[in-house]
Amino acid sequence: MTDPVVLREDDPRTTDLLAHGWRVVARSWGAHAVVDGALVERLRALLSASTAAIDELGRQHDDAIAALDEITRGDYPQSAATPHPAIHRAAIASLRVRGVRITGATEGDRVVAMTAMRRLGDAAETEFTAVAPDRRRRGLAVAVKAAAMLAAIDDGAVRLGTGGSALNEASIRMNERCGYALDERWVTLER
Ligand SMILES: CC(C)(COP(=O)(O)OP(=O)(O)OC[C@H]1O[C@@H](n2cnc3c(N)ncnc32)[C@H](O)[C@@H]1OP(=O)(O)O)[C@@H](O)C(=O)NCCC(=O)NCCS
Repeated sequence: MTDPVVLREDDPRTTDLLAHGWRVVARSWGAHAVVDGALVERLRALLSASTAAIDELGRQHDDAIAALDEITRGDYPQSAATPHPAIHRAAIASLRVRGVRITGATEGDRVVAMTAMRRLGDAAETEFTAVAPDRRRRGLAVAVKAAAMLAAIDDGAVRLGTGGSALNEASIRMNERCGYALDERWVTLER
């Protein structure tokens, strides 16, 4: 088997590869939000609707971040286009060096929700978002993501990006609630 190839669905090479025996093994998407007054208002409303303790997570939270990753890692629908490597302590340190900030919701020493966002000049790209299985469907993902987006905007981000697997309905809904529009469709091809 060849290495998987990830292409935009509308890329002419996709049609070409499909005609030559390649098949689609995964679908994924990219989404963007352009910063304007309406987005900021929306995000503030989402954040203020939450009663969770939400803040940027510093190094003192690294063990709790790794623990949350440990119990959620198996839930990410993964593919060549949507990998989720383990977020253990060394990985967290390397994320921080690359300009990634982690925003989370805490309950005592426990991190119950987190989102990691990488700053790239005036853009910010989400790396991953996770909520503890026993705390899902309570608006926590939307709240931590709104907080991270507002922090990035405060720091000067004018374009926000994210993406994920087409199988991940929860992620799509969370991002749409936060003002992202799905504007890219990708396919992973193998032969
Ligand atoms: C994706 C994830 C972070 C969502 O966390 P959550 O706290 O349950 O999400 P929220 O409660 O904030 O809900 C956000 C939206 O998604 C919807 N949603 C949540 N779980 C869903 C599910 N399993 N199926 C369909 N929709 C779902 C909610 O109804 C809500 O939409 P709405 O406001 O339009 O009703 C969580 O399921 C998770 O940790 N999954 C594993 C890791 C992962 O896949 N992360 C995303 C890729 S980076």
